[in-house]
Amino acid sequence: MLGGTGKEGKGLAYRWAKAGYHVIIGSRTPEKAQSAAAELETLLSATPDTTMLLSPSVRLEGRDNITATQRADILVLTVPYAAHRATLESIRNAAQGKLLIDVTVPLVPPKVTKVQMPEAGSAAQEARQILGEGVEVVVAFQNISYERLLNNEPVDCEVLVAGTSKAARQRVLQLVEAAGFTGWDAGPIENAMVIEGLTSILIGLNQQHHSEYSGIRITGIKK
Ligand SMILES: NC(=O)c1ccc[n+]([C@@H]2O[C@H](COP(=O)([O-])OP(=O)(O)OC[C@H]3O[C@@H](n4cnc5c(N)ncnc54)[C@H](OP(=O)(O)O)[C@@H]3O)[C@@H](O)[C@H]2O)c1
Repeated sequence: MLGGTGKEGKGLAYRWAKAGYHVIIGSRTPEKAQSAAAELETLLSATPDTTMLLSPSVRLEGRDNITATQRADILVLTVPYAAHRATLESIRNAAQGKLLIDVTVPLVPPKVTKVQMPEAGSAAQEARQILGEGVEVVVAFQNISYERLLNNEPVDCEVLVAGTSKAARQRVLQLVEAAGFTGWDAGPIENAMVIEGLTSILIGLNQQHHSEYSGIRITGIKK
């Protein structure tokens, strides 16, 4: 979880550790990562039904972003868009051959309710340009507020998943389900711009309707 010390990353880390995955929190500062991992361990030990309690081999650990990248099979990027390029450049070598789940929304403050896509088309396509073809890039969770992650309540928002190959999307859909969400294969990475862009619309709806976590659901299909 690169930038896993933040709001969205910590929430996803909690969900996956609860489901029994070994999660490495990454940070620019290893001490900050270790402290976030310890905080989540405390939270999980107070959580009923935690698979982690049943499996001593499953752990949370905190590392700097580059070591976390070297040690992980799947990378999850949860940093503000302003830190997107620098973080990706710092892990480019270590990331080769791996799968990156990019959760970044290319928000440009102060107008965060207006869709403002980067020249590449989306943050995910920019990530692909920076990392090269040796890294599969998949988008997911852009439309899930962190407010819905750090608890055990069922969440009625769904997750759209787009990315560079069907196999990579399928892998991420398994992780979406493990985090407690219904996921949908939303096609190639070019479709990431819609998923990332939706977040500005949801932030606008939150502001208009005094909510913290509007979300989306696909209707008309039985799963
Ligand atoms: N918050 C949400 O509800 C939500 C929902 C959907 C998508 N997202 C997207 O997920 C991403 C993370 O959001 P967030 O709310 O979790 O962000 P955040 O809490 O503000 O930051 C996440 C982490 O990014 C690192 N970071 C912050 N500024 C940085 C900088 N200038 N350079 C390098 N690293 C920096 C920090 O980690 P270290 O200091 O430990 O390195 C920080 O803990 C964003 O792109 C956001 O749009 C957020």
